[in-house]
Amino acid sequence: MEPPVHRPRRLRTTGAMRALVAQTRLSPAQLVLPMFVADGIDQPRPISSMPGVVNHTVDSLRTAAAEAVAAGVGGLMLFGVPAPGDKDATGSCGTAPDGILNRALRTLRADLGDSTVLMADTCLDEFTDHGHCGVLDDTGRVDNDATLEHYRALAVAQARAGAHVVAPSGMMDGQVAAIREALDADGFGDVSILAYTAKYASAFYGPFREAVGSSLEGDRRTYQQDPANRTEAVRELLADLDEGADMVMVKPAMSYLDIVRDVADLSDRPVAAYQISGEYSMICAAAERGWIDREAALDEAVLSIVRAGASIVLTYAATETAVRLRRGE
Ligand code: PBG
Repeated sequence: MEPPVHRPRRLRTTGAMRALVAQTRLSPAQLVLPMFVADGIDQPRPISSMPGVVNHTVDSLRTAAAEAVAAGVGGLMLFGVPAPGDKDATGSCGTAPDGILNRALRTLRADLGDSTVLMADTCLDEFTDHGHCGVLDDTGRVDNDATLEHYRALAVAQARAGAHVVAPSGMMDGQVAAIREALDADGFGDVSILAYTAKYASAFYGPFREAVGSSLEGDRRTYQQDPANRTEAVRELLADLDEGADMVMVKPAMSYLDIVRDVADLSDRPVAAYQISGEYSMICAAAERGWIDREAALDEAVLSIVRAGASIVLTYAATETAVRLRRGE
């Protein structure tokens, strides 16, 4: 038998060689850390389904945010968790200037200035007593156009509180255009919109619902996308780009890498992907059983998301990943 003509193993012979030819490279600056800040607690509260992730007090949020920024993490995505008694049908504590999310934004903007990119989840589900991402009509359906009015107010309140970026995650039709118009009308022309462009009705959001104390009964299938659909993501993308999205996002990430690739191929703006709660917790749970190596699996997951075409990755492991990247591990 003739020896092989092609020997790709030559480029895998040493660590130095592999480092030289690595095609995908990660940098802390492309990582965004999602964080939860809760009202009415005086100690950080662990989230049992998300090892290492907590509901922060404003104080512990400040410390963790400073640590993330010191590690080189590129941005912070904040979610507000109101006291259960403060939730109502329209999620009004999301817009209230002294609502937990807006208070946290003001505090972090004062602490960190422009040294990081402060992002806010622009959605109603954390604040509504029914747990849906929009307001309901008389029949209990999520009312798209009435919800847009609430998103406009929410986005302006978040911009006023210091968000550099607002991130509408409710998958209402027209949400990007509505928010852009409201921000511009209020003098927030410099505040960017990170659009949740292709957000699927996923089973992997489970732990997040614990994290925000969601009271949702039922599901979000009338507004989030059907996991069976691929080209629908392209339709959502073209609409968001047309409406003025500054960045676009695919979510979840790992089970949707084909969508990440499609969006990356077509978008003329930065593409983010969100490694969501269930993706993170699955890795942690398997690692706790000794079935996989936690750090290696987390790093490989982020690498695969970037290889698929995302230039920005939201991950609950952003700080520890950034520290490892800095150390050159
Ligand atoms: C909605 C929102 C959700 C997540 C981010 N924004 C929950 C949902 O759609 O049910 C999920 C994030 C995660 O699972 O890590 N405001």
